[in-house]
Amino acid sequence: MIATNNLILYINSIDIIMCGIVGYTGKREAYPVVLKGLKRLEYRGYDSSGIALINNNKLAVHKKQGKVVEMEESVLGKDLHSHIGIGHTRWATHGEPSDRNAHPHVSNSGELAMIHNGIIENYAQIKKELLSKGYIFSSDTDTEVLLNFIEDIKKNNGGSLEEALRIALKRIVGAYCILLISQDDPETIIAARKGSPLVIGIGKGEHFLASDASPIIEYTKEVVYVNDYEIAIVRPDELILKNLGNEKQTPFITKLDMELAAIEKGGYEHFMLKEIHEQPDTIFDCLRGRLFPDNGMIIMSGVENHMEALKNAQRILIVACGTSWHAGLLAEYQIEELCRIPVEVEYASEFRYRNPVIHPGDVIIAISQSGETADTLVALESAKEKGAFIFGIVNVVGSSIARLSNAGAYSHAGPEIGVASTKAFTGQLAVLAMMALKIGFAKGTLSEERYLHLMKELHDIPEKVKEMLKDTSNIQRIAEKYKDARDFLFLGRGYNFPIALEGALKLKEISYIHAEGYPAAEMKHGPIALVDENLPVVFVATKDSYYEKIVSNVQEIKARKGMVIAVATEGDDIIPGMADDTMFVPDADEVLAPLLSVIPMQLLSYYVGLAKGLDVDKPRNLAKSVTVE
Ligand code: G6P
Repeated sequence: MIATNNLILYINSIDIIMCGIVGYTGKREAYPVVLKGLKRLEYRGYDSSGIALINNNKLAVHKKQGKVVEMEESVLGKDLHSHIGIGHTRWATHGEPSDRNAHPHVSNSGELAMIHNGIIENYAQIKKELLSKGYIFSSDTDTEVLLNFIEDIKKNNGGSLEEALRIALKRIVGAYCILLISQDDPETIIAARKGSPLVIGIGKGEHFLASDASPIIEYTKEVVYVNDYEIAIVRPDELILKNLGNEKQTPFITKLDMELAAIEKGGYEHFMLKEIHEQPDTIFDCLRGRLFPDNGMIIMSGVENHMEALKNAQRILIVACGTSWHAGLLAEYQIEELCRIPVEVEYASEFRYRNPVIHPGDVIIAISQSGETADTLVALESAKEKGAFIFGIVNVVGSSIARLSNAGAYSHAGPEIGVASTKAFTGQLAVLAMMALKIGFAKGTLSEERYLHLMKELHDIPEKVKEMLKDTSNIQRIAEKYKDARDFLFLGRGYNFPIALEGALKLKEISYIHAEGYPAAEMKHGPIALVDENLPVVFVATKDSYYEKIVSNVQEIKARKGMVIAVATEGDDIIPGMADDTMFVPDADEVLAPLLSVIPMQLLSYYVGLAKGLDVDKPRNLAKSVTVE
C-alpha cells in the first residue's frame, strides 16, 4: 500500500503537465505551420518542445529542452519535409524538464508518435504490465506509457489504430488531449480529448489542430471544438468525430470572432505591456452593447434569462483561481452592497475537495479567463451534479467552463497571451459590476438614482484608463527605484483590498519579489513586524469611505520608517504628502475605483520585471492555463 502511494506521488511529481499542442495535415509544408503554432502557444508551456513529422513513410521526431526557439535551432539544416506534423510545448510543475521527457514520444516499434496534454493517473499499473511484456521506456512520462499501451493493444487485437486508441482510453483514468500519428498512415492525425482543450480548424484540403484557436486563426476562422470523450480522425479532406462507443458525432462548426492582430505584439515590447494598454478598448468592448446609461438599461441576456434565480438566490458562491479569484473577492463587496445577497468566494481547489454544502437556490458564479482551469472546471462539474445553477464569466469563447455553465457572460477581453492576467481581470470586473447593478436594480436593493450614477461611472471607466495610460513614466521611475527590494507589502481596505492582493500577486509573478497583500487594518496583527526602512509598502488608498482609516494606517507605517508608495486619487494632497512616492488615479465611485487602481499595480510589476531583465511574458514556473489539478 505504502509503495503504491509513493509511486503515485512520484508519478504526480514528474509528469503533471499543461501544455500546448499543435497539429497539421494538408497540402502545405507542416513544419513551418506547426513551429509557428508552437510559438503562439508557448505561453501555455515553455520548458521543452518537440515536433514529429512523416517523410516517405518515415517518422522523424525532434525535441529539445528549453524554449521553442531552442528546438528550432537544433533542427537547422535537417530535412523537415512533411505534409503532416504534430508539435508540443511542455510545462512541468515538478521535476527537471529534459530532452527525453519532452514530447512527442515514439512507440517501441518506432511507428507511432504521440503528444499529450494532461495526466494519466493509473499509468503505473499499465507500465508494470508493459514492462513484463518487454516494453522499454526512454522517458519518465505517462505519455510514453499510454502510447505503448495503444501499440500493444493494436498488436494483440490486429485492429486499426483508432480502435486500439478507443480501447486504451476506456482503461485509463485521468485527463488528456492527445494527438497520435503513425508512419504507416502519413495523412491522418488521430486526436482525443478529456479534460484538456482541443480545437480543430477547417481549411480547404487541410486541417489544423491546437489547444486553442491562436495557431489556427491565421489560416481559417471555421473551427470545431472537440468535446470530452470524443475521438477525431483528421485527414486533409476529412474530419470524422466519434464517441468512445464508436458512434459518429456531427461536428459543430463555429466561426471564430478574433483577428490575427489580437494575438500579435503590435509594436509593444511584451504582450503584457500591450495587454495593459489595450484595456481602454477591452473594457469598452465588454460594456459595448450591454451598458446604456442614457436610457438606464443593462442588456445581458444570460442575466435576464435567469433573473429570478439570480435575484432570489439565498447565497452566491464564487469559484475561481488566481487573479480571477481576486475579481471574485471584489464582486463579493459589490454584490453584497448592491444586491444584499450573501456571497462566499472560494478557491476552486479547496471547494472541489471539501464536500461543500450547496443548497437549492444557491447560485455559483465561476470566473475564469481561460475557461479551462482544471480546479475550477472540476469544482463546477461536481457542483452542477449537486444541482447548482452555474453562471460562467469566461474570456475564451467556447472553452470548457463556458460550455459547462447554465448561463454566462463573456468578458470580451480578446486573447490574453501574457501569463500574468491583466486585461482579462478588468474585463471580469466590468462584467461583475454590470451584473451587480442589474440584479440590484431588479431586486430593488439599489435605488434608481444610484443605479444611474454607477452606470454613468462605469461608462466613463475606459476613458479614464486611457488617460492614465498616456504617461506611465512616473510608475516606471518608481519601479526602478524599488526594484531591488527583497519584500513588498500591499495594503488596501474595502473595495481596494482585493486590489492590494492582486498587486502583490502581480509583483510576485513578474518580478519574483516576495510580496504580501493584506487588509490595511489587519496589518497590525502581524505584518507590521516586518516594517523597517527597507520595506516598501504599497497603499491602495483612493478617496473612498475608508479613506480616513487608511490615512491612519499610512501614518502607522511611516512611524516605523517604512517606505510608502501610494495609489491616490488625483487632487488628494494628504496621502501624497505622507508617501515617499505616489501613483495617481482619476476619481471614481468607490464601487468601481478598483478598475482604475489596479492599473498602476499592473504597470508597477511590469516595470520592476523589466528593470530586473526578466521574461515578463513567460515568468518562470508559471503557466497561463492550468489544465491539471
Ligand atoms: C494561472 C494564471 C493566472 C490565472 C489563474 C486562473 O495561475 O497564471 O494568471 O489568474 O491561472 O486562470 P483562469 O484562466 O481560470 O482565470
